[in-house]
Amino acid sequence: MSAKKVVVAGATGSLGSKIVKALLERGAEVTAMVRATSKRSKLEEMGVKHFVVGDMMDNASLREALSPGRKFDAIVASAAGYTRHSKSDSTKTDTMGYRNLVDAAKEAGIPRFVLISILESDKAVTVPHFHNKYLTEKYLAEKQQPFVALRPGAFFDWADDFMLRKIKKGIVPMFFDNVDYGTIYTPDLARYAAIAATSLPESEVNTAIDVGWATPVNGDTLAAAFEKVLRKPMLAKAVVPAFVIKAIAPIFAMFSHNMKDMLEMVKWVNTGVYVSRNTERQKKLFGDLPTIEEAITRYCRDRHLI
Ligand SMILES: NC(=O)c1ccc[n+]([C@@H]2O[C@H](COP(=O)([O-])OP(=O)(O)OC[C@H]3O[C@@H](n4cnc5c(N)ncnc54)[C@H](OP(=O)(O)O)[C@@H]3O)[C@@H](O)[C@H]2O)c1
Repeated sequence: MSAKKVVVAGATGSLGSKIVKALLERGAEVTAMVRATSKRSKLEEMGVKHFVVGDMMDNASLREALSPGRKFDAIVASAAGYTRHSKSDSTKTDTMGYRNLVDAAKEAGIPRFVLISILESDKAVTVPHFHNKYLTEKYLAEKQQPFVALRPGAFFDWADDFMLRKIKKGIVPMFFDNVDYGTIYTPDLARYAAIAATSLPESEVNTAIDVGWATPVNGDTLAAAFEKVLRKPMLAKAVVPAFVIKAIAPIFAMFSHNMKDMLEMVKWVNTGVYVSRNTERQKKLFGDLPTIEEAITRYCRDRHLI
């Protein structure tokens, strides 16, 4: 069977580059969709040979990048504007940019669109960057563009260097209150995205799939698992003190859309609703879910902590 041709939007990003790696490992022919300003060197070092230039805010560039002649079997979209990967990025990429990308994929007749969405994004109406994912899922359905939306919780290895420094000092940084929330180790998400793009059966298309660990986590359960794996005492500690969240951040949020977005996210997650309601589907499609201890063992091994 010939290799699946997969184009990755957001390929230079933290998750995007891992998705590229996972696709290459599965034998796919990978094309990285990058902007003219994107730094390609890491992807080239990974062995990516095909590049197309496409900016989600520029329809003409997308039409060219995804043109039917390229015969892509799937597109994986991991790009984001709110993360400010490049200086001038804006949240318009998360709304208008995604609509542009869906339109271009539909026009080109790409048979599958794999969206990196967010857990419970349909319910998070107060959190703009979560809600925008749901709007893209809805737009994909409206346009009848075949899609698979993967809905991960918080990336466990987000803010990787910061987290590693803290872990080495015996601290498990807590970004939320000590509430349960869903999380995922990004190499696992990258693998699921690669499977979704290349081998998930047609019968599973046009749905959203929760992905993450077998059980939700909180500061205490993470600290306990790290203690077990590293065999030393670990303390869960809030990154931002509660009084800052309650009294100071709201003032800054009045002047910064990004700050308001992040504050609303923390408030929403702190209500305990950011958890998967359906782990069976992930098990059926991608295999056994990682347990807290197993995933943390891999995280520690990958960083030579054990
Ligand atoms: N962090 C979490 O906990 C979490 C949880 C659930 C889901 N997610 C989702 O995971 C995805 C990946 O996040 P990440 O942290 O890996 O992102 P990231 O590292 O900030 O990467 C963003 C990517 O988007 C590209 N991009 C931005 N604007 C673009 C545009 N207008 N046109 C084309 N490409 C554009 C960037 O390209 P350049 O190189 O040109 O800048 C970069 O490759 C996001 O969609 C995010 O919403 C994150």
